[in-house]
Amino acid sequence: MTATLILGKDVSEEIYAELRQRIETLKAKGVTPGLAVVLVGDDPASQVYVRKKGEMCEELGMHSTIIRMPGDTTQEELMTKVNELNNDSAVHGFLVQLPLPAHLDEEQVINAISPSKDADCFHPSNVGRMLIGEPDFLPATPAGVQQMLIRSGIETAGKHVVVVGRSNIVGKPMSAMMIQKGAGADSTVTTVHSRTKDLAAITRQADILIVAIGKARFITKDMVKEGAVVIDVGTNRVEDPTHPKGSRLVGDVDFEEVKEVASYITPVPGGVGPMTICMLMANAVKAAERTMEVSE
Ligand code: GUN
Repeated sequence: MTATLILGKDVSEEIYAELRQRIETLKAKGVTPGLAVVLVGDDPASQVYVRKKGEMCEELGMHSTIIRMPGDTTQEELMTKVNELNNDSAVHGFLVQLPLPAHLDEEQVINAISPSKDADCFHPSNVGRMLIGEPDFLPATPAGVQQMLIRSGIETAGKHVVVVGRSNIVGKPMSAMMIQKGAGADSTVTTVHSRTKDLAAITRQADILIVAIGKARFITKDMVKEGAVVIDVGTNRVEDPTHPKGSRLVGDVDFEEVKEVASYITPVPGGVGPMTICMLMANAVKAAERTMEVSE
């Protein structure tokens, strides 16, 4: 058996078509949804992500602001910028690209973002709302994974979902989302991580295996049940002398061997990757819609 591929490009295109309609509706009421992104320093990967976010805003007809601040920006300067964005009515949602340079306090910055403009859904109040099943926003990457499951017609209710990884950005919110009531959830969830004993014995029980541990090809064929759905959130650069760049991207799953046992699988690149920006855009559109609800 070779697994069916779930491609982020296909799923995100469906969602972008829906977002375009919602953006048109907002524009007809005189509101152009606006997303701002703050980038501190010149981390090359962050520069690429930030550029892509700006380009996608423009493609969708949204207003995009990219604020580039030097690597030696002080905490006070960054906090002042966050406050400015909190008070700028043309900015419906914004985010501060992570990681920040080591001298800056990420937690203090995230806590200062107005929860109503928190496009990443990183603010503790939004994380808490999601946990109690009353979300305003959803964190982009886990929400993207959930949309891939829903829109591929994969049943999640009553299924054993094993999440590999416990980061604040993916693993923890992913586990929390899958135990909620409702579409694309209602699952029985186990979270495993670097300190889990006999991790493979648990991953082998997964009907749906979601992997975000940040280790290249960590999940091998023997760790996956025949017929499982495998979602790979990892992106790791590995050396490959046969590749023009001398390296290439691989996931946290050994794709070539796991695709032989899985029923569905996401490749890297081309799987979950495009979903993160897509769901970020969805959060920005939702933030703009909320301002209309408040003013109507
Ligand atoms: N760095 C890597 N992923 C993300 C993300 O989703 N949001 C922000 N703000 N920074 C990131």
